[in-house]
Amino acid sequence: MSDKKYENENEAAEDTGQETEAGAVDSGRRSVLKSAAGVSALGALGALGAETAKAQQKGGLTDAIVSPLQRDRFPPSQGARNWLTNAAYWYEFPSNDPDDLEVWGYTDKLSYAPGDEVALHVNTTADNYEIEIYRDGAELVSVHTAKSLKGAYHETPIDCYEKGCGWPVSHRFTIPNDWKSGSYIIVLRVERDGQVIEQDAWFALRAKRPGADADILFVLSTATWLAYTDFGGGSAYRIPPEKGGGGMESRDTAYATRQRIHRPWARGFIRQPVGTPSWAWKPRRYEDFPIGSPPRYPSTEYYLANGLSFKNMLAGWANYDAHFARWAEREGYTIEYASQFDFIDLPDLLDNYKLVVAVGHDEYVPPEQRNAFDKFVEAGGKLARFAGNLNWQVRFEDNAQICYKHQHEKDPVWADPSKRHLASTWWHQHDGANNPPVTTWGVNGHKGVYAMVGGATPRGAGGFTVYRNKHWAFADADLYYGDILGGSVPVIGSEVDGVEYTFRYGLPYPTGEDGAPMDLEILALAPATAGEETDHGHPPEAHFIGPSERDAVQYVDTLGLEQTPENLDKFVRGCAAITNMKKGKGEVFCICTLQWVLGLTQREPFVEAITRTVLNRYTA
Ligand SMILES: [Fe+2]
Repeated sequence: MSDKKYENENEAAEDTGQETEAGAVDSGRRSVLKSAAGVSALGALGALGAETAKAQQKGGLTDAIVSPLQRDRFPPSQGARNWLTNAAYWYEFPSNDPDDLEVWGYTDKLSYAPGDEVALHVNTTADNYEIEIYRDGAELVSVHTAKSLKGAYHETPIDCYEKGCGWPVSHRFTIPNDWKSGSYIIVLRVERDGQVIEQDAWFALRAKRPGADADILFVLSTATWLAYTDFGGGSAYRIPPEKGGGGMESRDTAYATRQRIHRPWARGFIRQPVGTPSWAWKPRRYEDFPIGSPPRYPSTEYYLANGLSFKNMLAGWANYDAHFARWAEREGYTIEYASQFDFIDLPDLLDNYKLVVAVGHDEYVPPEQRNAFDKFVEAGGKLARFAGNLNWQVRFEDNAQICYKHQHEKDPVWADPSKRHLASTWWHQHDGANNPPVTTWGVNGHKGVYAMVGGATPRGAGGFTVYRNKHWAFADADLYYGDILGGSVPVIGSEVDGVEYTFRYGLPYPTGEDGAPMDLEILALAPATAGEETDHGHPPEAHFIGPSERDAVQYVDTLGLEQTPENLDKFVRGCAAITNMKKGKGEVFCICTLQWVLGLTQREPFVEAITRTVLNRYTA
């Protein structure tokens, strides 16, 4: 890759954390980002004023990096929103301008096996393009290059996020039988007059004989990636103004219920610059979050300043999954890879493994995957989850992920009572799936959710408080009762899972009222809230996530409870938990927070020791 500032390309990759300041764009990075569209609102953003002024001196930021299609995409309603992240509706879309050098691409599937043919769909304003394919793991290894491929420009439908981009196949190649299972990045590259533009396509490669040469299957959180990626302006969180969205996130109706895989990944999902901050952050000094300070979202400011996918950069290979893969392979673990959707065609994929692992932001799950996990663990397999935010049952059909979320009654399968349990909505939906996640993963999503971000525990410790320090998982970490685990990362946040608990003689126990088995062991806890505290004197538009009370209403409805003040109050506060659960002949270990794997990249000694202990015990 020509830009050496991407992670896993030099030693500085360990710097990932909260230290990077917004606005640090160098000229090389800017050239890479030229084809990123839609930053015309930057002029209105005070925090970015210096960058904007600098760019305007060079001929105008708008002229430089905003595509024509994007310039009018700021609906009048956004004028009423004055907070940084709500000011701009930013998303990537081809420019329709032949003078605008750009390249975009995607593969026809999310995952393949050796010997499969990959169809690459490419759209570019250049005459020719090249591809370079890397396996990203212990090292970033270039495995294939193809130059002087014929480029062509194709129109892109405005609703490509639902229907796919529909670009024709531009290049095909067969995956050699000796390529290792792993995560493969296809860097698409074009050059004109010395300017180089890159964009990333991606696929997972399963093993030729799953489990024959590895004990661990690493299931990439591809369903959550699909929910968050926003190329074309639609995601499980937003729809563009042309389709009735206001550009701001709405949890009620303004989101796409279908996310098609046939479009490029949003910028930052597959590769991201070294030092890209994560959503959860921890104020290091009083001045970072003083008394009376409005809520802060430094990572979102960074995304906007650097032309990366907005808040939706909360998911993707580069954000979470890569941190585990690189660390585990460098530690000498042999791991094989799969997409979540592989369980639809391969329900027995886990049969020859000892351990299945999920990490990072793992919020959306197809029932085929959950069924496979349950069967595997019941039969004696082990599940290690270093991930947070279990919420949604999704369906996958016609190369698209379906999730109706809060509008579950609109999912076509809802009309048929015999299929209603398959409707895409909360796992908890009392008259739908009615299957709390805790019975599979040892935690529940609605007992989280937010921490260490905005107005959600903003001055928290950032780590777990350890209660069962004598548990086997902590044997190599020398933990004492009451220690804070991982606070410097911070490992807590931005989204977490928990269980309902009570304390007896200084130790937490599940109450069971959220479906948790009574023999579930709770090892450590940290506070979380269902949303933000919005009663600290700041205007509503200062809050990006929104009030805890709003999500509490949704949880009460989902569970079929009456909306009494007492019931609503039960869901305003939650926790992040570390749990261990016996299940059938197998076992489940869960550290339910997005940011645990960032501790691996940072080489946080306690995070590394505990992760090693779990992997070693579960593959013994
Ligand atoms: Fe999430």
